[in-house]
Amino acid sequence: MPTLKSASLLASLALALTSTSTLASPSNTQWRASTDWVLEQHLGNLSPYFDAPVAKGLSKGLPQGCEVEQVSLVQRHGSRNPISQEIGTIANLSYYINNNTQLFSNPKWGAWSLPEEFLFLYQDGGWNNTFVTDDLSATGRRELFSHGVDFRLEYPSLNTTRFVAGGQDRVVESAQWFAAGYLGRHYNSTADLEVIPETEGVVSYITPMDTCTEWKYSSGNDLVTAWDSVYLPRISKRINRLLRPHYPGVNFTESNVHGMLWACAYDIAVKGPGSSKWCPVFRRHEIEDFEYELDLLMRGAFGYGLPKGQGPLLGSLYVGNLTERLDDSKTKDDPSQSVYLDFAHDTTIDLILTTLGLAKDDEYPSQGPVDPARKWRTSYQVPFAARMEFLKLSCSSEGGKKEEEEKRIQLLLNKAPVDLSELCGTSFEPHGTCPLNRFLNSKPVLEANKVVQGDPRWVSACGAGNGL
Ligand SMILES: *[C@@H]1O[C@H](CO)[C@@H](O)[C@H](O)[C@H]1NC(C)=O
Ligand SMILES: *[C@@H]1O[C@H](CO)[C@@H](O)[C@H](O)[C@H]1NC(C)=O
Ligand SMILES: *[C@@H]1O[C@H](CO)[C@@H](O)[C@H](O)[C@H]1NC(C)=O
Ligand SMILES: *[C@@H]1O[C@H](CO)[C@@H](O)[C@H](O)[C@H]1NC(C)=O
Ligand SMILES: *[C@@H]1O[C@H](CO)[C@@H](O)[C@H](O)[C@H]1NC(C)=O
Ligand SMILES: *[C@@H]1O[C@H](CO)[C@@H](O)[C@H](O)[C@H]1NC(C)=O
Ligand SMILES: *[C@@H]1O[C@H](CO)[C@@H](O)[C@H](O)[C@H]1NC(C)=O
Repeated sequence: MPTLKSASLLASLALALTSTSTLASPSNTQWRASTDWVLEQHLGNLSPYFDAPVAKGLSKGLPQGCEVEQVSLVQRHGSRNPISQEIGTIANLSYYINNNTQLFSNPKWGAWSLPEEFLFLYQDGGWNNTFVTDDLSATGRRELFSHGVDFRLEYPSLNTTRFVAGGQDRVVESAQWFAAGYLGRHYNSTADLEVIPETEGVVSYITPMDTCTEWKYSSGNDLVTAWDSVYLPRISKRINRLLRPHYPGVNFTESNVHGMLWACAYDIAVKGPGSSKWCPVFRRHEIEDFEYELDLLMRGAFGYGLPKGQGPLLGSLYVGNLTERLDDSKTKDDPSQSVYLDFAHDTTIDLILTTLGLAKDDEYPSQGPVDPARKWRTSYQVPFAARMEFLKLSCSSEGGKKEEEEKRIQLLLNKAPVDLSELCGTSFEPHGTCPLNRFLNSKPVLEANKVVQGDPRWVSACGAGNGL
């Protein structure tokens, strides 16, 4: 934090630099906002939706003379309750507390001396796990409804009534809330919802790993286990050391600490920011270590960390489909359709990024150290209700004729433009766009279009068989 004096010095400097009348002078609250660290934006793929920060050098909006001709949206489901792999750890935390009510209700030096952030264990008579599993939360419903409204307002001249969703309850429900926001309360009589089953053996770009026999969740989980053994003991030691003078014999395990971290994230996912008893228990760097765990998991199970080239291969199913929509010379998809809505998962988005070679780091060590400038960041890429949008743009040079129009492509990830210049091999453009034909002829896109299920490349990555 800058001192008051240097802050006002900086403010007057900034004023001098931004002498154009369009920029307001930074108020105190803006200074604070720009330096404040927001916990719920560091919960990886368990963060509630927020617009991703715009990367340095890029700007929102379209290049001059461009308009949006087509949008393909990959929409992650909204905030939800814990999944089955997580709930047991959270339940064990509450069992430990409830099996030790004598201990927690009798702090050795009285309640007044307890560390403030743990006072709830005494005052509330403990803590219970009240999460259900898998279901979309109220926050999640709002995220999707509000995205549906936003999407209508952002692309008022485009329209569709066709919705495609992966066959999982929270994904289908997300599509429905979005549809209500997008089409209004009679959406059910106008909209057409196609559900692609999420079962093994069903070919789907929403869950492409379901047809990859050799794909394993443990590819990510093993990295997580390695990192957990580095960062969780540090936290359990600190917390036990803090509490033992008050609660002699207290012994929160590393797994209990993991449960506290998940409880923090899911309290926010279910009840909103500020609602959690557990979040204040952690230091900033501890939350950032948890964030890295989530990054490692997603990168390892649905990204560059997958073995045998599975990552780029699996995302190619979507990229192949996208190519058909974007390429006027391919007519398989409906050429009159201007909006494509796919309701999906964080995993879908991560695999597409991997196929396109985006957000790629050279190293991603499972023992740390954590690179604060790493590119693969699930908080920015796949928070709950994440939106990935491929925009086909029609652009004319200023005063140009219709024949001279050029097609370009823009990728928005949680409303922030992604720089496509390296992928396309073109010069940098401040909105991240590149000419459509350069995108379609880029190596990753050409490679993705060559993938055929069951061909030698598929078999060498996924094995034979169809995921069964
Ligand atoms: C919960 O605790 C029980 C008993 O200690 C243990 O067997 C089980 O593996 C734990 N579950 C998880 C998910 O850690
Ligand atoms: C005590 O812990 C066990 C598992 O270790 C659990 O089954 C039981 O429900 C717990 N008791 C309470 C009161 O939570
Ligand atoms: C947790 O649940 C137990 C068993 O239902 C109950 O006795 C206890 O009061 C609850 N604790 C809190 C903090 O809600
Ligand atoms: C979109 O299409 C549906 C179905 O044809 C129609 O009911 C709705 O009014 C359209 N919305 C807009 C804004 O064009
Ligand atoms: C409309 O309602 C029916 C029956 O409840 C359901 O099967 C269908 O999926 C709904 N359509 C949409 C777009 O949600
Ligand atoms: C805490 O629990 C762990 C695992 O159950 C055990 O190995 C350790 O000895 C315990 N520590 C204390 C101080 O009770
Ligand atoms: C694209 O998606 C549609 C709708 O799910 C499907 O029918 C088609 O086979 C897909 N195309 C490719 C190339 O995956």
